[in-house]
Amino acid sequence: MPMLTINPSGTTVPSTEGMSILEAVLAAGVKMPHKCEGKAECGSCHIFVVEGRKTLSKTQRAENERLDAIVGVSSNSRLACQAKLGSENVTVELLD
Ligand code: FES
Repeated sequence: MPMLTINPSGTTVPSTEGMSILEAVLAAGVKMPHKCEGKAECGSCHIFVVEGRKTLSKTQRAENERLDAIVGVSSNSRLACQAKLGSENVTVELLD
């Protein structure tokens, strides 16, 4: 079972393989914006993946296109609604 650590709070919760990071964060009781409800349209769930990037699902076209339109993305940026957890632990950094 992968563990998800959510920074800056440092909250660590067990999560389920195949669950999106957004679903796991919300299930942990941590608030984060998700204006389009997970359709890769708003970009409000942009996060940085600090550890475990390789265990996540691959970035698909819709996510790439949305990330291209966001200011401040980096090579470890993902949309939390699109990135699905794999079998290994992941640490993410939420933005304000
Ligand atoms: S919730 Fe809108 S892009 Fe993720």
